[in-house]
Amino acid sequence: MSVTLHPAQPLEQLDQWDDFVEGRYREGKSEEEFRVYDAAATPGVAEFYRLNHENQTVAYVLEKEKQYFGLSKGMKTIWEAAEFLNTLVDDSDPDTDLTQIEHLLQTSEAMRRDNQPRWMVLTGFLHDLGKCLCLYGEPQWGVVGDTFPVGCAWSKDIVFPEYFAQNPDRNVPQYQTKYGIYEPNCGLENVHMSFGHDGYIAEVMKPYMPVEALYMLRFHSFYPWHRHGAYEHLANEQDRAMKEWVLKFNQYDLYSKGNAKPDMKQLKPFYDELFAEFLPEKVAW
Ligand SMILES: [Fe+2]
Ligand SMILES: [Fe+2]
Repeated sequence: MSVTLHPAQPLEQLDQWDDFVEGRYREGKSEEEFRVYDAAATPGVAEFYRLNHENQTVAYVLEKEKQYFGLSKGMKTIWEAAEFLNTLVDDSDPDTDLTQIEHLLQTSEAMRRDNQPRWMVLTGFLHDLGKCLCLYGEPQWGVVGDTFPVGCAWSKDIVFPEYFAQNPDRNVPQYQTKYGIYEPNCGLENVHMSFGHDGYIAEVMKPYMPVEALYMLRFHSFYPWHRHGAYEHLANEQDRAMKEWVLKFNQYDLYSKGNAKPDMKQLKPFYDELFAEFLPEKVAW
């Protein structure tokens, strides 16, 4: 079974965003180069960011948090959640692209090869399971894309910042100040991030995973912070200590794609054991 994304969605497939991010941070490519190149060469990506930046408002985020953070979408095992996510495939080019499960396994297997701790290998496998939001009917711009705080001034380090011009929060003076609705150095856990797959999977895994893992899950798309050093005025000591883990995670997420396709059958026993070590059989989604 496969689900084709709604044709009105600007990205040809969900992974197009990940590929775009990888290109942006590829060694030797300047900020200016990627911007000029990508807006012209991948109009779908530019349109995707326009929709994201115009629609991710405080009101939208609060509504989505209310809708999903109560975890009322049912109980699933990790394999069930992964199989469910795998129904999200791109029909146009099935041979060259990895399935969602293959991306998760490539990420986690690269960590395993480097002898990273077991909780991190598990985090590698879990990190994109929140993309099932697409299968709940959420639009691409509300599932993937760089994330950023809402309710305070947008950083210039967010990709395509010009698209915030049409965001209704622009007309709320309090949201346009440096700290907005937050206290200085209040800690990122107290900040409402633009809604997407990161925040959702972090909520699902909150009862089970160590704090380092939750940072990797929650902030892996918060490029303005972990790559550009933006929003430090909202961060606290814990955030600063955890950033190195987010960065460590990020290199596996971005750069493990070229590796050979993982052999699901052969790997399954290892992951069965890994899931059982940290998680109950079924978790609430
Ligand atoms: Fe992700
Ligand atoms: Fe990923």
